[in-house]
Amino acid sequence: MKMNGSQIMIGDIPAAELASRFGTPLYVYDEQKIRENYRRAVGAFKKHCPDFRMFYAVKCSNNPAIVNILRQEGAGADCASVNEILLAKSVGLDGENVMFSGNFLSDEDIRQGLESGVVFNLDDESILPRLLKFGTPEVLSFRINPGYGRSNVGDFVTNAGPNAKFGIHPDHVLEAYRQAQAAGIKRFGAHMMTGSCITDADYFPFVTGLLMDIIGKVSKELGIDFEFVDLGGGLGIPYEPGEPGLDLEAAAAKTAAMFASKCAEYGMKQPRLEMEPARYFVGNAGYVLGRVHSIKHSYKTIVGTDIGMNVLVRPAFYGSYHHIFVDGKENHDRVLLGMCGQLCENTDYWVKDRLLPADMAEGDLVVVENAGAYGFGMSYQYNGRLRAAEVLVNGSEAILIRERERFEDMIAHTIVPDYLKK
Ligand code: LLP
Repeated sequence: MKMNGSQIMIGDIPAAELASRFGTPLYVYDEQKIRENYRRAVGAFKKHCPDFRMFYAVKCSNNPAIVNILRQEGAGADCASVNEILLAKSVGLDGENVMFSGNFLSDEDIRQGLESGVVFNLDDESILPRLLKFGTPEVLSFRINPGYGRSNVGDFVTNAGPNAKFGIHPDHVLEAYRQAQAAGIKRFGAHMMTGSCITDADYFPFVTGLLMDIIGKVSKELGIDFEFVDLGGGLGIPYEPGEPGLDLEAAAAKTAAMFASKCAEYGMKQPRLEMEPARYFVGNAGYVLGRVHSIKHSYKTIVGTDIGMNVLVRPAFYGSYHHIFVDGKENHDRVLLGMCGQLCENTDYWVKDRLLPADMAEGDLVVVENAGAYGFGMSYQYNGRLRAAEVLVNGSEAILIRERERFEDMIAHTIVPDYLKK
């Protein structure tokens, strides 16, 4: 996003033009920015660890156009469900380039995962005997909970440590690999995903050390040459103005150094290093555009837009901050205002006391920043307010990549028994 005078531009297109052409609420993604983010991240890690592979956790923003951009850049896909696997396959990724990191899997998940030839990353040792009933995978990874996690999204997305539901307890890891070996599996990986939106560069080498101490012992004890070690995602972005971002270069250099030194300490042949971030690629490349529909002067002044918590749930769900720009009014005098969507729940009143242009009026266009990650993917249809359209901007081109939902979509798949129609 950039300013052209007081006009907000996404790529080379005025936000106002996108809003009038495609309507609001509207998700807009800047393709060049996604590619730049991806290249910066891969470049930083490859510089210090040439045998490095990047995956994209598709849950973050699952539009096939976006998954295709990342595939073109060379990313594999990290999938949490069979439908995400189907999505990854639909963009042309083969099984070796798809990690299946689902948790608490059903038998059907396991069966379909095996059939699609993806790399299983088992979240619990109890899944292994169930998996073996269906077949023996070529390669297997376990998701390990190294006992520590952190997140900049409060405690909400701390994905490891004693309070997390994810991963295998360190005390059970050796036995898990032993059983997999006994079943005839020969190729192994190891994985962790400890938290999301981390902007502290020292965090990544720290948790890498924890993981390596666990699998170093496994390698020694069982003679396993790990093929890969996947550090999960978590590369953070700043959301608030002035908030420091992640020093990616430092994170990559220190993580690669920790990885190499732990491999040496445990006499391990250095496995391929992998990561599967998502927010870092698409977070700051996505925006939500919304229209001010009415302004209420009650106990406070509240600006009502069509960006409700159904469109962008992060503020209501996690108390997350998202910066708001007002087209044409960025340099106007500011006063404390509230802002909300149109849903009948007060968590939809997602901005309280924010300095916004004092002359905000019906018809104004607002642009919410950093909405590309966990934005559309977590949106829903509550109150009959349907999901937004998605548009991809590439320089001066704008292409619709998901149609706006219609009433027919809202009632699709519902069934009214005949006796209720009388
Ligand atoms: N790998 C696995 C197994 C994951 O579960 C996730 C995200 C990622 C990778 C990508 O993590 P990232 O690089 O984006 O931090 N809805 C929350 C974030 C939840 C993260 C879930 N797992 C939010 O809006 O902040």
